[in-house]
Amino acid sequence: MTKDLWRLGEQYAGTPFGPEDCDPDPFVQFRRWFDAAAAAQLPTVNAMTLATVDRRGRPAARIVLLKEVDERGFVFFTNYDSRKGTDLAAHPFAALVLFWEPLHRQIRVEGAIEKVDAAGSDAYFASRPRGSQIGAIASPQSRPIASRAELEQRVAEVERAVGEGAPKRPDSWGGYRVVPDMLELWQGRVSRLHDRVRYRRDGERWILDRLAP
Ligand SMILES: Cc1cc2nc3c(=O)[nH]c(=O)nc-3n(C[C@H](O)[C@H](O)[C@H](O)COP(=O)(O)O)c2cc1C
Repeated sequence: MTKDLWRLGEQYAGTPFGPEDCDPDPFVQFRRWFDAAAAAQLPTVNAMTLATVDRRGRPAARIVLLKEVDERGFVFFTNYDSRKGTDLAAHPFAALVLFWEPLHRQIRVEGAIEKVDAAGSDAYFASRPRGSQIGAIASPQSRPIASRAELEQRVAEVERAVGEGAPKRPDSWGGYRVVPDMLELWQGRVSRLHDRVRYRRDGERWILDRLAP
């Protein structure tokens, strides 16, 4: 089995990329790459791996969806009482990874975490389909539940309680913003001689380096 995997691995042949091709502002550069991935109609283009660390220093990772990005940072929405929420309460730092295989591109982001303010979380919650709103209220994310039937019963109870009205965002659900102090763009190249550009925050400005692949 192991040796079957040895042969797996694409030969990447992306176009040359270096610090000289980058906007000095990493958010502008991120947007360029994100827009290119969106224009290529890649599936779930805003899916990203979110890594957190728990109280004991153990890392955990899972996929979340990037929902907002501006000069403040990268926003996703979740349950604050979930495992990731507990991790982020203990260690308010996170890492994100986006991978766009057909473009041979990876983006890594690292930084401190802050909660999106209530108005921002309310606005996003209100934009979600009603079923997702009900689900977010009903699901005790990351907790054991006895059965699928228990989950469906919880959903039915929330539907009954909400009635015809607009579901209200629970306090335990909202956005987190990763405020980056590091962002890396990775462009796959032939023979694993990939191009890597790293932005590091230095006060008000950003320092760019090329990193060895
Ligand atoms: C494509 C995809 C998108 C997802 N988006 C989110 C999301 O935006 N927010 C979220 O809380 N969970 C999302 N999930 C589910 C998470 O991966 C994870 O199962 C859940 O958040 C519980 O993680 P935790 O127990 O580590 O807190 C997504 C999963 C997939 C596969």
